[in-house]
Amino acid sequence: MSNKIHDAVQERYGAIARQLNVIQPAESACCGSANEIAADCGPKLYDDALLEGLPVDVTGLSLGCGDPVSIASLREGETVLDLGSGGGIDCFLAAKQVGESGYVIGVDMTPDMLAKANANKVKMGVENVEFRKGYIEDLPVRDNTIDVVMSNCVINLSPDKTAVFSEVFRVLKPGGRVSISDIVTEGNFTDALRADLSQWAECVTGAIDVEAYTGLMRKAGFVTIEVVDKVETGVVNRKPGMPRIFSARITGYKPNIS
Ligand SMILES: C[S@@+](CC[C@H](N)C(=O)[O-])C[C@H]1O[C@@H](n2cnc3c(N)ncnc32)[C@H](O)[C@@H]1O
Repeated sequence: MSNKIHDAVQERYGAIARQLNVIQPAESACCGSANEIAADCGPKLYDDALLEGLPVDVTGLSLGCGDPVSIASLREGETVLDLGSGGGIDCFLAAKQVGESGYVIGVDMTPDMLAKANANKVKMGVENVEFRKGYIEDLPVRDNTIDVVMSNCVINLSPDKTAVFSEVFRVLKPGGRVSISDIVTEGNFTDALRADLSQWAECVTGAIDVEAYTGLMRKAGFVTIEVVDKVETGVVNRKPGMPRIFSARITGYKPNIS
């Protein structure tokens, strides 16, 4: 499964996980430190109330570009899957909301991130969260078993977004839903810019046009797709040939036909 994009992405997030204090390079569209550095990326990622009680080891390793948890409207007892779970922030937030009768699975390909997430799990004494090693293009999850798939600033990093949405559709139960925060564009990067693997790994040049993004979701079978909100990111210094870059929240449903 691994290719050179996976390798570049894994190298970057492995290095971040190994740092004690997360400091994001100025031109990354993935934000850092839940509500502090994130302020440079636009509005705060999360409501302060949502983050209450989370240790700094979790909030300090927040690398998302939005808040997919709040728009997921999670209910007690639901099973949730987080694509590219990183240090686990969205998994821990979801775990509180689905309660003891619910379950949260985080999938990530980077061993050092998984180690951080598992250390955070032990520190927090959370029982209903599990982190699995795997690629989001080939999920280590059974068919039709998930109520809600979330993801925060990860699908833009994938070299095969068609495979990601097909896998998400496969693992969702009929009637299940997706709740995504991600970097999208209006227009496209040139091939030359897309070839810049370090900018790809910084959540910039792997991003695709928002219409193409929702088109891939539709092609995978999703219905009632909605771009809930879309905020232009201020952190990336746009070079010639770069489209406008946004952080968007997107939802959709797998039809309820078994
Ligand atoms: C920008 S960070 C976001 C982490 C987390 N969602 C958050 O909000 O803090 C991206 C994460 O996705 C993981 N990742 C990127 N591409 C992946 C892929 N194709 N398969 C599995 N994990 C991936 C990286 O290892 C990294 O932990």
